[in-house]
Amino acid sequence: MMNIMLGTYRRYAPKVAQILLVSVTWFCSTGGFSSSDCPKLSSYFGTKTRYEEVNPFLLANPLLVTRKQDLLPTTCTPLQIVSVIRHGTRYPTKKQISKLKKMYGLIEQSESTTELVTELKKWNMWYEDWMDGQLVKKGEQDMKNLAYRLASLFPSLFTADKLHNSKMTFITSSKHRCVDSTKSFIKGLAHNYLGLPELSDTELNDTQLYREPVVNDTLMRFFDHCEKFMVQVEDNDTAMYEVDKFKKGPEMQRVIHKIATLLSVPEEELNGDLIQVAFFTCSFELAINNVVNSPWCSLFDEEDAQVLEYLNDLKQYWKRGYGFDINSRSSCHLFQHIFQHLETAVHESKRSQQISSPVVMQFGHAETLLPLLALMGLFKDEKPLRADNFATQNEHKFRSGRIVPYASNLVFVLYHCDLVESPREEYQVQMLLNENLLAFPHSHQSVCLFDDLKKEYSHLLNCRTKEECELVKVTTEEL
Ligand SMILES: *[C@@H]1O[C@H](CO)[C@@H](O)[C@H](O)[C@H]1NC(C)=O
Ligand SMILES: *[C@@H]1O[C@H](CO)[C@@H](O)[C@H](O)[C@H]1NC(C)=O
Ligand SMILES: *[C@@H]1O[C@H](CO)[C@@H](O)[C@H](O)[C@H]1NC(C)=O
Repeated sequence: MMNIMLGTYRRYAPKVAQILLVSVTWFCSTGGFSSSDCPKLSSYFGTKTRYEEVNPFLLANPLLVTRKQDLLPTTCTPLQIVSVIRHGTRYPTKKQISKLKKMYGLIEQSESTTELVTELKKWNMWYEDWMDGQLVKKGEQDMKNLAYRLASLFPSLFTADKLHNSKMTFITSSKHRCVDSTKSFIKGLAHNYLGLPELSDTELNDTQLYREPVVNDTLMRFFDHCEKFMVQVEDNDTAMYEVDKFKKGPEMQRVIHKIATLLSVPEEELNGDLIQVAFFTCSFELAINNVVNSPWCSLFDEEDAQVLEYLNDLKQYWKRGYGFDINSRSSCHLFQHIFQHLETAVHESKRSQQISSPVVMQFGHAETLLPLLALMGLFKDEKPLRADNFATQNEHKFRSGRIVPYASNLVFVLYHCDLVESPREEYQVQMLLNENLLAFPHSHQSVCLFDDLKKEYSHLLNCRTKEECELVKVTTEEL
């Protein structure tokens, strides 16, 4: 077995290396892009990062696919694609808008006459409560373009025939922005890629046309349904200890002091949350309206941005990532669900049957993706992210802006490979994160035999959500 495996890898190695060369992720700071395309702060926005930041060539051509060729040798055919996709660019939430109003109010009261303060006062507070986290126009475009690019990458899977014959499955979180993202994705696929007439909303509801998107929060918002997570993390005031500590720590105090001075606002009126919302406003103006020089951005330099990025990453780490085991364990049902699709497809293929679900698209949140990636052991730092180790974590792997920007997507591709030597056929899996090959953490390879993957993750494939998420209650009677 081992020999076959090594042989397989050796056979693929040159090809994989080649692909990796083409698919090296370009970050704004390193790619050949002018600074006006990629403003200096834009890679530090964490979960509020625009998708273009991880693939900057999309700024010039949002439909560009860097790898037209199959990812594996031509003897391998993609059988199935199973994806988890974060919704596209969205408005701030009501909570963020209310914090922004407070921050803006403080600036309006400032007596400073500097150019920066004058510009901020002139800035139009256009965010309103109704916007509450909804998908923006740019977010619809994110999804349409992603549909186009994924379909271009796997043309044999995204066919009109499969769309019309209900071979494509669309599952979504109940949140408005996710339902809207799903619809935009379908529209982009049907109209922009397949060239079918533009679908009206009525047609989108027509089950004759294709399988309707299914809302399933058990899958896409598993965190809301996991009691242990709710009690130990979500509703637990002390679980975010490191985040709260960092908000009050020396790095944040320095930024707060600096902003208070810049704005001539009493320092005691400011806090970490208000500074963060000012920083996010810079990100929203860029992501939603493509405003590159918003006065909100002028408040911060790159050093401040690194501190604020860390604050955002700390929260994701403790609430959705490696901070607590239950964060990732709560996603094991989704993980199993993904594997079931792969397993079924392998089973069908072995019996020379048609693949019943060649395309499975699931739309959720950063909060859906991060636990799943952590469950698989991806982007794990050697040392935990803590309030007191900002200085040594400047190269941390758990960087939400690179992992889960708007429209981020994790794609599993199942291939059937015809081999010259024995075994005559085998099943291979690749993962793409944000359209770039993602190496499997156990092997550091970008391709894995399906059977090996199953072995590698057997401990997760046996997990039971009920047991994972059940709180062991100690009642007084038992005591
Ligand atoms: C489509 O279906 C959704 C949910 O079932 C409904 O809210 C919406 O009004 C329908 N749209 C049209 C145009 O029929
Ligand atoms: C959601 O998906 C899970 C896993 O496939 C399934 O067991 C459950 O019945 C689904 N729920 C709804 C409401 O469709
Ligand atoms: C809340 O979090 C703290 C810190 O992780 C932990 O010690 C405590 O047990 C948690 N509380 C509950 C009710 O789970």
